[in-house]
Amino acid sequence: MKINQMRVAHSSRYGTAEVLGIREVPKPEPQADEVLIKVHAASVSRTDDGMLRGIPKFARLFFGFPKPKLTILGMEFAGIVNMAGSEVSNFHVGDKVFGMSPSKYGAHAEYICVSANSQISKMPDDMGFTEVLTCEGVWYADGILRAFGLKPGDTILIYGASGAIGLAALQLAKSYGAQVTAVGLGQHQELFKTLGADQVINYTQQDFTQIDSKFDFVLDAVGKSTYFTCKKLLKPKGSFSATDGGPWGQNMFLALWSKIIKNKRVLFPLPSIPKNFIQVLKKRLETGEVQTIIDRTYPLEQIADAYRYVASEQKTGIVVIEMGVGK
Ligand SMILES: NC(=O)c1ccc[n+]([C@@H]2O[C@H](COP(=O)([O-])OP(=O)(O)OC[C@H]3O[C@@H](n4cnc5c(N)ncnc54)[C@H](OP(=O)(O)O)[C@@H]3O)[C@@H](O)[C@H]2O)c1
Repeated sequence: MKINQMRVAHSSRYGTAEVLGIREVPKPEPQADEVLIKVHAASVSRTDDGMLRGIPKFARLFFGFPKPKLTILGMEFAGIVNMAGSEVSNFHVGDKVFGMSPSKYGAHAEYICVSANSQISKMPDDMGFTEVLTCEGVWYADGILRAFGLKPGDTILIYGASGAIGLAALQLAKSYGAQVTAVGLGQHQELFKTLGADQVINYTQQDFTQIDSKFDFVLDAVGKSTYFTCKKLLKPKGSFSATDGGPWGQNMFLALWSKIIKNKRVLFPLPSIPKNFIQVLKKRLETGEVQTIIDRTYPLEQIADAYRYVASEQKTGIVVIEMGVGK
């Protein structure tokens, strides 16, 4: 490979994992406010998979039609600063960093350039590159929990608690002092308890919508249920939210309707990243409030398999790509 080249996972059209290829492209050069990072690990998320496939289809209006504008995906990265632009003073060559690039993506590559003033932070001491890859799940989960206004003593049921967003929601809800009921397959119950769940439900053995308890909040973290199915679980002043729009995008309309009604409301906050998100996440990782739960790790060469696994909707937590492994 030439010195100014790097290997990337490249896709120039929408489709399933088959459209991905490993390619050599020119290594990017940092602008004055950017750092060039040698990526050591990146995640493959459901968002990456949605971007690869161009779903939901209306999103192609923003992400490119008929071809994707972004040809290198990967929102989340951890690695080492390799070069810093002339205006960068907060990072230096050799710093271990992690972060996310939610508009430009580009982490499924050996190098990525990001602004030194964006969602990037030095890594927590003594943590490995894969152990910090929990940004996306925490971002979405925390947005919903903050919209709920979760406080100590509140009760919350999380359906799909074993996904990236669900596991983040479980851990964050505990850190906010809530009582958590986690719903997932039997094989996840020990994990849920280790992460602090107060009650666990195996949805293959018990219909969680028929239990006798009422909750302040219900979060469908996997988009497999609906407000109308979960409504009976809510206390009168309780609220429901989901990570997906629901059938016919109903959660968006129900959230608008909920601005008028007072009881059993639906909240559907649009994802927005607080400016200090990554610094707060670093602290949460350092205190152990949030742990990254890694399901599988793949080398870059096998990234198509990683996407296939993510698309199966059966991952537990995070799927990781480790660069430089298995070459
Ligand atoms: N709003 C947004 O901007 C946004 C962004 C990213 C993702 N999302 C959506 O959020 C959802 C969760 O994302 P994620 O990354 O956390 O997903 P994920 O990690 O892929 O979630 C996988 C988990 O979903 C569970 N699951 C699969 N089928 C299920 C079913 N029929 N019933 C109950 N649980 C089921 C599995 O748990 P078990 O093993 O227990 O079955 C698995 O552990 C996805 O639907 C995704 O489309 C939304």
